[in-house]
Amino acid sequence: MCGIVGYIGSRNAYPILIQGLHRLEYRGYDSAGVALINQSGDLNVYKSKGKVAALEHYAEEKDTTGTIGIAHTRWATHGEPSDINAHPHYSQSDNIAIVHNGTIENYAVIKQALIGHGYTFRSDTDTEVIVQLIEYIIAQNACSLYEAVLQATKEIVGAYAIAVIAKDNPDQIIAARRSSPLVIGIGNDFYCLASDATPIVEYTKKVVYLEDGEIAIINRNEPLKIMTEQNVESKINICKLRMSISELEKGGYPHFMLKEIFEQPKTLLDCLSGRVSIDGKNISISGIIDNKDKFLRAERVIIVACGTSWHAGLIGKHLIEDFCRIPVTVEYASEFRYSNPVITDRDILIAISQSGETADTLAALELAKSRGAFVFGICNVIGSSIPRATDSGCYIHVGPEIGVASTKAFTGQVTVLAMVALTVGQLRETVSNQTFEQVATDLRRIPSLIEEVLKLNDRIHDLSKIFTYAHNFLYLGRGYNYPAAMEGALKLKEISYIHAEGYPAAEMKHGPIALIDNEMPTVVIATADSIYDKTVSNIQQIKARGGRVIAIVTAGDQVASSIADYAIEIPEISECLSPLLTSVPLQLLAYYIAVNKGRDVDQPRNLAKSVTVE
Ligand code: F6R
Repeated sequence: MCGIVGYIGSRNAYPILIQGLHRLEYRGYDSAGVALINQSGDLNVYKSKGKVAALEHYAEEKDTTGTIGIAHTRWATHGEPSDINAHPHYSQSDNIAIVHNGTIENYAVIKQALIGHGYTFRSDTDTEVIVQLIEYIIAQNACSLYEAVLQATKEIVGAYAIAVIAKDNPDQIIAARRSSPLVIGIGNDFYCLASDATPIVEYTKKVVYLEDGEIAIINRNEPLKIMTEQNVESKINICKLRMSISELEKGGYPHFMLKEIFEQPKTLLDCLSGRVSIDGKNISISGIIDNKDKFLRAERVIIVACGTSWHAGLIGKHLIEDFCRIPVTVEYASEFRYSNPVITDRDILIAISQSGETADTLAALELAKSRGAFVFGICNVIGSSIPRATDSGCYIHVGPEIGVASTKAFTGQVTVLAMVALTVGQLRETVSNQTFEQVATDLRRIPSLIEEVLKLNDRIHDLSKIFTYAHNFLYLGRGYNYPAAMEGALKLKEISYIHAEGYPAAEMKHGPIALIDNEMPTVVIATADSIYDKTVSNIQQIKARGGRVIAIVTAGDQVASSIADYAIEIPEISECLSPLLTSVPLQLLAYYIAVNKGRDVDQPRNLAKSVTVE
């Protein structure tokens, strides 16, 4: 949510900052801006409503020289998307510029105080308050930029990752973070910084992840200095990025989302690799083995997550209850964090997050941790805030997910949850060897089976044309596939803007059936599972009311396919793993309907990928 980039070095900063903004555009894209200090010492700020391309267009004829700069792509929180509210914001004197990701809760109080001191404000943002406060502190105390930022961070309450430059200090960027991510890249003769590593990887693989409360003093041609909020120098912990640039490109696909759907055979292979043994007899998740006692004595599992990750969590509940016989609750992180949950030291909290930065999930896990739970993370982005805040965890290793609609991360999360459930079940001796081996062997088959499912691409593309103009969709599933139905509905609504709801199939007759007519298509997941016959009855109930049904069925199906209007066959697999296959045609259906409607598939309106604000 909002992306920030900075550069200081020997090269012209502007192209690096713009390229960085393109990489971070998935975090927000309602406006963008850049601030540069040129050779003459001018601080030039250019900003524009709209996407980064609009900023580039706006800056075309302007002076974009300078070897130091900061830039921002915005997802509006305070103040509508506009040129004025776009970042960077600058201080009253125009001497200091700031970019910010996060929200400042006490901005109104500080703003009033600054107005009392004669400051005027140009924008409606909370961010402008920070830069004015920094200028005020410098004026009052005749202190350095670093000292003023340090002081300001003590006065502001909320979440922030900021980068600040000042006209009279063209050799320095000051950056700070609390609850919003910030990564600093270290090159031979430059530093760059960004909200995540994607803008950095093409320049250097050496990075430092700033910790909460830390402030970085980034001076040109000098060693990096990182200070704590107590003004004590921190030890610099340099990490090596494993990401490659090709992972950040579309690779010939028209959209990242389609690329990411098609990557799933490979991403799941990476996710399983080194974890499930060839004979299916062993699964090795070090985050569990190293904390064996916690999992052995656990009395309850609480899963917290948001959106798609929450849907994966619902599948995780079935898996863990089936294989580990531990009761599991699945909570929306945003609700959990403000509840007063009963937690004991025999609880295990599993936090699921693709980005590893979702503010609500982070707050939920911190609450559980403070009350004694053991916290296990399932994340994708390496080095992000959630894995760093957990006691242990397991990365899904599906590579950067750039399309705003989550696809490969969902299947990665479900795959890890299946491995976690089997591993803990084996430890607790609650899963039979036969079931363990059957499911573990099936897990290894998943990449090639998804390969098969992807061959349905053209057929689903054709089908999408029939349903592009529907105004509402219902998605039904049962058991393991009820969350898959909800996930299918979420995919459709977020990228096509068609209203869609996911329901447990049997609940349909308690209300949603009233909506059924020949204009409202229903997607029913009717795979050959333990309650197949019941799902078939639900299809019949829809058909009896003139509804149109797309059924996702198991290869060779006779009954559901003959009643439904359209049937999509997926290969046979253990019931508990079937969402890994049923979710793929639903991803493709949502994708093609959105494309048919001319939607901005990778950057749908109002959404951002990394939700670092409440
Ligand atoms: C939907 C989607 C969102 C995210 C949610 C949580 O396609 O991407 O619903 O799943 O914002 O994000 P993470 O998993 O990063 O915590």
